[in-house]
Amino acid sequence: MTMNNIDNLLHESRRFPPSEVFAAGSAETRRLYEEAAADREGFWAKQAKELLHWHKPFTQTLDWTNPPFAKWFGDGELNVAYNCLDRHVLAGNGDRVALHWEGEPGDQRTITYAELTAEVKKAANLLAALGIGAGDRVAIYLPVVPEALIAMLAVARLGAIHSVVFGGFSAESLRARIDDAEAKLVITADGGYRKGKVFPLKAAVDAALTLTDKASSVTNVLVVKRGGNDVEWTHGRDLWWHDEIAQVDSEHTAKPFPAENPLFILYTSGTTGKPKGILHTSGGYLTQVAFSHRQVFDLKPETDVYWCTADVGWVTGHSYTVYGPLANGTTQVLYEGTPDTPHPGRWWELIQKYGVTTLYTAPTAIRTFMKLGRQIPQEFDLSSLRVLGSVGEPINPEAWIWYRDVIGGGETPVVDTWWQTETGAIMVSALPGVTTLKPGSAQVPLPGISIDIVTDDGTPVGKDEGGLLVVTEPWPAMLRGIWGDPERFKETYWEKFGDRYFAGDGARYDKDGDIWLMGRVDDVMNVSGHRLSTAEIESSLVAHPMVAEAAVVGASDETTGQAVVAFVITRASQADAAGKDDAAAVLRAHVTQQIGAIARPRQIFIVSELPKTRSGKIMRRLLRDVAEGREIGDTTTLADANVMTLISETLR
Ligand code: WT7
Repeated sequence: MTMNNIDNLLHESRRFPPSEVFAAGSAETRRLYEEAAADREGFWAKQAKELLHWHKPFTQTLDWTNPPFAKWFGDGELNVAYNCLDRHVLAGNGDRVALHWEGEPGDQRTITYAELTAEVKKAANLLAALGIGAGDRVAIYLPVVPEALIAMLAVARLGAIHSVVFGGFSAESLRARIDDAEAKLVITADGGYRKGKVFPLKAAVDAALTLTDKASSVTNVLVVKRGGNDVEWTHGRDLWWHDEIAQVDSEHTAKPFPAENPLFILYTSGTTGKPKGILHTSGGYLTQVAFSHRQVFDLKPETDVYWCTADVGWVTGHSYTVYGPLANGTTQVLYEGTPDTPHPGRWWELIQKYGVTTLYTAPTAIRTFMKLGRQIPQEFDLSSLRVLGSVGEPINPEAWIWYRDVIGGGETPVVDTWWQTETGAIMVSALPGVTTLKPGSAQVPLPGISIDIVTDDGTPVGKDEGGLLVVTEPWPAMLRGIWGDPERFKETYWEKFGDRYFAGDGARYDKDGDIWLMGRVDDVMNVSGHRLSTAEIESSLVAHPMVAEAAVVGASDETTGQAVVAFVITRASQADAAGKDDAAAVLRAHVTQQIGAIARPRQIFIVSELPKTRSGKIMRRLLRDVAEGREIGDTTTLADANVMTLISETLR
């Protein structure tokens, strides 16, 4: 976030108290804050018992004797899929719609809780027949089709561990994730729909599994037919989902697993080149996602139609499409495609069609719609909406107001939810019935969550002061580690402040003590609400023979929040032949192929030098100035003071 933005934020003074409809139920919600403040662990124990079914009740709430490795509800046993499916059917809600799925071309499937449960039982039998059992890892590389949820829940039902890889990641990225987790099975599709075209997925899996001569850990590839595109077939390894599922038994009894049984690994970018496999477990995670989904969105499971627009390949899709909403028995919309296909009003058309009451999306989408103009949403009836949510990056006040006014008809509360892949669930957010809303602020920790803002040396800051965001007490959905790398887990999040979790975000308290998020303080970029590592893109660039050295920065971007901008020194012999424009185009394509389209740089500048300190550290701050078209800041610590002049001259 630029200084200019921060300045705007701090002058934001609009206030929106809860409307009467919301305030009516607020006494109960207020009590949650009081209960949690009086006895935090007791509060979570009560939530876990009320919100979930335990095959074996727990007697211990939190075990923090070996920090930072927490155990929540450690001696309890449950089945995550049973909690999301069977128990709703047994309670008489089998006919309730779980999913209103719509594909990009307009095909539709409506799936009730009874039907979803039946599908997951069959899928669990199929996976078991393929040798998947408790603790085994299954990679899922699918478009947003019901089978993505069915596959995740079937894995969970068996006590196995899923690692969902976003369909936009490359074969290389997929292989790295398969290898790191030693996945036995990959579940994919022939292809999926995006912007009116079929993008191949099976082909990427084939490529991933043959990238190196070294055999992968994968024994089978299960393929959902979706795109109808041609695929190659490796006999003995590849199986069609529809063929196999037709042959398995439809009865399956969910067995209980310990609360700390791993549920999933989800890879996210850190400050080094290697993505981290964030590990989440079962009981605490499910408790907090169910609780937060209910409270933050003021959920009424009998009447609400909820829609989270995130792909299931991201943590938002895991926690707020799959586990939170299904644990709460929610009816939801699931949409495969892009917002502007086949027309720019597609999302608003879906909201009108299904009577969506609750929309959870990202600031980057809102800003894109703002640019297209309010005429587009105004063609549709959006009056069913009653709660709007935002996630992924700070939402600027103007986008917040537009969201409330144009999408929410001027009276719908907007909740800005701060959390991370690592936190598993929402940590800081307004609650619609009790919080007087401030556009641009995430505002208050949820009941039972302890947050503070501290200086670099760990001293808590006061009101109207800024610093680093920390979580001061363990929380139920917290990550349990980084897959296969306990040292990196300690180093990344706990070394800085000892007993407090370091989130990597800058934040401020305002005069009332509300929290305003200010963006990452490390070398992590946030592009369209997706986390990218500067180091990962740099190492992909230098892997190209044309590149001698590379530096990547996140430059502020009107639509995507930040955009990837790269500064590259080429090897003279190689790049001269290509010419600067061609070299940049080749390198953009190279990054796309290595990591995926989300990492493709917006711009690549070919330069002759990079600004470095005397100890050789690249001064990204100065490159950000260049990328954002600002006057270049303080250069006194540069080893060679002329470098920035040189760079500016090359780019002129
Ligand atoms: C990072 C986490 C949480 C799911 C999506 C992203 C930024 C997220 C907000 C918000 C300001 C936010 C932070 C955080 N972030 N939500 N409401 N306000 N910043 O998950 O990929 O793990 O990224 O996204 O910088 O650390 P993620």
